[in-house]
Amino acid sequence: MTATDTTALDTTPQELAALAAELATAVGEQVQRMREDGVAVAATKSSATDVVTAADREAERLLVEAIVRARPGDGILGEEGAGREGTSGITWVIDPIDGTVNYLYGIPAYAVSVAATVVDPHAFADGRRAVAGAVYNPRTNELFDAWEGGGARLNGDPIRVSGVADLGLALVGTGFGYTVERRTEQAAVVARLIPRVRDIRRIGSAAYDLCGLAAGRLDGFYERGLNPWDYAAAALIAREAGAALLGRDADTPPGEPLLVAAAPGLAEQLRAALG
Ligand code: IPD
Repeated sequence: MTATDTTALDTTPQELAALAAELATAVGEQVQRMREDGVAVAATKSSATDVVTAADREAERLLVEAIVRARPGDGILGEEGAGREGTSGITWVIDPIDGTVNYLYGIPAYAVSVAATVVDPHAFADGRRAVAGAVYNPRTNELFDAWEGGGARLNGDPIRVSGVADLGLALVGTGFGYTVERRTEQAAVVARLIPRVRDIRRIGSAAYDLCGLAAGRLDGFYERGLNPWDYAAAALIAREAGAALLGRDADTPPGEPLLVAAAPGLAEQLRAALG
């Protein structure tokens, strides 16, 4: 399979970014209203701590409805089960609430993530790459957006990754999966890494973490076990802000096996330090 030629699409990455931003903001505002009305766990997924709230489901339903209305020929892949084949070459990869546990506890680090992706077997491990995306944190009213080749923005202003190139001075974000086996492995990696970096942050939303990296609030980020909806929009935002994205090794694109993101001078050092 070859990568989609974006010039053959019926729209431009910039227009797709505008739509992603509009949808993420509108649904994010709704997510915030639902939070103010109270929140409860609706179901669990991979483990008892991997929760879904009614707001996750409602937000995904709203996103799907709006995408189908705006672009009926596009496909959709959503965290809470949305799946729709498209005919246009574009598939929207959506996470209605990334950072659901923060949402549940009222910690202000959760976001709605909306990405327009195309087929690209080499860019990411899931075989797709975002050409436009937006991530909106409704608690902080921060909208991050990017389109391919257009740079990255926070609330309309350009953002850039930090210039830290020394691992020993790097503030590194990461995340942990929900199963005991995955967490046990991840704890061992953090134990090896923490003596070698400035410090570690576990903020709790991979999408928001990657956007934070794009804005220079973190110097590096890595996580194993991410799903496409966790990183689709935010990895584009990080790349457009100047980050290098690496996978587990030179032959594996970034994605589920490992995603490392950092300024180009730091990314290889960070990957090597994960062991
Ligand atoms: C999770 C968050 C978390 C990351 C997990 C993800 P969710 O997504 O992004 O930071 O460490 O791997 O599953 O469950 O809040 O949508």
